[in-house]
Amino acid sequence: MNTKRLYWWLIPLFGLGALTCTREYIDDLQGVCFERDVLPIFQSNCTQSGCHNSQDRESGYDLSSYNGIMAGGITPGNYKASKIYKVLVAPLGRMPQSPFSRLTDEQITTIAVWIEDGALNEVCPIDTSCNVTGVSFSGSVRPILQLYCNGCHSGSNPEGGINYSTYNGVKANVDNGSLLGSIQHLSAYVAMPKNANKLSPCNINIIKAWIDSGAPNN
Ligand code: HEC
Repeated sequence: MNTKRLYWWLIPLFGLGALTCTREYIDDLQGVCFERDVLPIFQSNCTQSGCHNSQDRESGYDLSSYNGIMAGGITPGNYKASKIYKVLVAPLGRMPQSPFSRLTDEQITTIAVWIEDGALNEVCPIDTSCNVTGVSFSGSVRPILQLYCNGCHSGSNPEGGINYSTYNGVKANVDNGSLLGSIQHLSAYVAMPKNANKLSPCNINIIKAWIDSGAPNN
């Protein structure tokens, strides 16, 4: 048999193998800004009780601030050499540990792009155009919860027994007033997000507008 022909058959197989084994976490994300896009990922996914917050400092790491994240193992300009990136994609011993979920591909990419761009603590442009018309659960509210809350409030053992990975979980906190009360820092509620700054006025207004419209599952 002609060996050249045989190899041609194998090329697609190797190609497929390469695609499934390696994932490049550096793509088309533009304008990643630390405080707006990166810090909330760490605060929501790494600072749960007993983990890398400023009190518990599990294994000596406090990942609730820029300085703490840098000290945790960031090599500016080289995401693949950065310890923090490595544990996010590690097949074994990955972070966040079970029962908390792995970061989404988009979150890992955001962190990788930020590191590759120099891991700066830059001032982010403030979005002054806050549009609260036509807000929906899936398009407006869920992305905010995903970024700022679900690292703690999802999975099999969510913090405070509150699970925001489903609409019903969120709706329960709409109905008892604690969702809005906690993000507005009303005194009757524990201030949320924990270990992080208050949500921006725009994000609070989006959630409030959705609640005021009846908190539909849309
Ligand atoms: C770092 C972990 C963490 C993050 C991030 C977080 N929470 Fe919490 N949340 C907790 C813990 C822990 C509790 C239980 C109360 C406590 O121990 O402070 C809690 C309790 C709550 C409560 C009940 C408060 C009350 O007074 O009854 C609400 C509502 C809540 N969280 C909403 C949110 C929302 C909304 C976000 C995102 C904007 C968020 N949480 C982000 C850890 C977190």
